[in-house]
Amino acid sequence: MRGLDLTNRIVVSPMAQYSAEDGCATPWHLMHLGNLSISGAGLLILEATSVNPQARFSPGDLGLYSDDNEAALAPIVDFCRRHGAAKLGIQLQHAGRKGSVNLAWQGQKPLSPADGGWIAQSADDIPYPGRSAPERMSVAAIRALVADFAAAARRADRLDFDLIELHGAHGYLLHNFLSPLSNQRDDDYGGSLENRMRFVLEVFDAVRAVWPEEKPMGMRLSATDWAEGGWTLEDTVVLAQRLKERGCDYVTASSGGTVPGQEIPIGPGYQVPLADRIRREADIPTLAIGLITEARQAEEILQAGHADLIGLARAMLFNPRWPWHAALELGADPVFPPQYERAHPAMRGGDFLAAKQ
Ligand SMILES: Cc1cc2nc3c(=O)[nH]c(=O)nc-3n(C[C@H](O)[C@H](O)[C@H](O)COP(=O)(O)O)c2cc1C
Repeated sequence: MRGLDLTNRIVVSPMAQYSAEDGCATPWHLMHLGNLSISGAGLLILEATSVNPQARFSPGDLGLYSDDNEAALAPIVDFCRRHGAAKLGIQLQHAGRKGSVNLAWQGQKPLSPADGGWIAQSADDIPYPGRSAPERMSVAAIRALVADFAAAARRADRLDFDLIELHGAHGYLLHNFLSPLSNQRDDDYGGSLENRMRFVLEVFDAVRAVWPEEKPMGMRLSATDWAEGGWTLEDTVVLAQRLKERGCDYVTASSGGTVPGQEIPIGPGYQVPLADRIRREADIPTLAIGLITEARQAEEILQAGHADLIGLARAMLFNPRWPWHAALELGADPVFPPQYERAHPAMRGGDFLAAKQ
């Protein structure tokens, strides 16, 4: 992608760890990301990272809005560069109307400003079912936020990240603007499909403008709301075409998140058909994600031309050496750091040094 070469098409999907303090990475991130950087995956994308404090989902979200945030990430990026083979991406987010809740394992219950939370912002003042109403963003607030995304991208470049992914999925802010279920504005940012896409394209353009030409940039989308009256796959194809014209290098095909209780046909590779259709109809590379757990399953998706990249989330937490096992199963050579070289099955019997020669 652009100036970026990946050693393989395995991508560690962004996974929020809810372990940051005031947006700053902690030793947990060093362990988590350091470990995944030596996993043999071609690309490791850091978790949803907030572009200002109000953009956070929970108080534990990673941020890239202050010098302290940037300084806390620097040694972790250095570690991953020094010891890992994975290239490094970062996902930039604003949690929109879902923001201001406690940590995932505390139940994601709404946090009021008195309890250390904040007022969530969204395209409109329509609440996520069961939550309090968010603040509808003014045009001035939209402009300021577009600038926050660009400022976070500049920090990501200073940290030497290879790739940016914008989080436009899962009922977060960018998706709030896209879906008619969360956006009923009657100004330039609501109503028609063109108007609902406006904010997302403005954010994309602002980040693309400051992100170096040779570095790739992608967008994660919920390809469908799986809900009556919501954002559809047809809409996603139109948006993907617009993004491609503006220099988007790939689209991650996720789904859902705008409203709870949808009937999602969850099963192995259940979102692959979405990646396939976006790839064919918008003619843009896609990243397939969602219950891809087996090496042969991943290889078949690529060989059939359904997607260009394979994302793995939970399978990588369960088995962070997934890419090593996949390489051995498919007859390729896994990438080991020298410290772990003796774990290679070929080096287990007999003399280690002899096996190396
Ligand atoms: C612990 C955890 C945290 C996640 N955090 C994010 C995130 O920060 N950004 C995002 O776009 N998706 C996030 N996701 C969704 C995953 O990236 C992925 O789309 C989803 O888990 C389906 O893939 P899988 O079946 O391989 O786990 C998260 C998933 C998990 C399990």
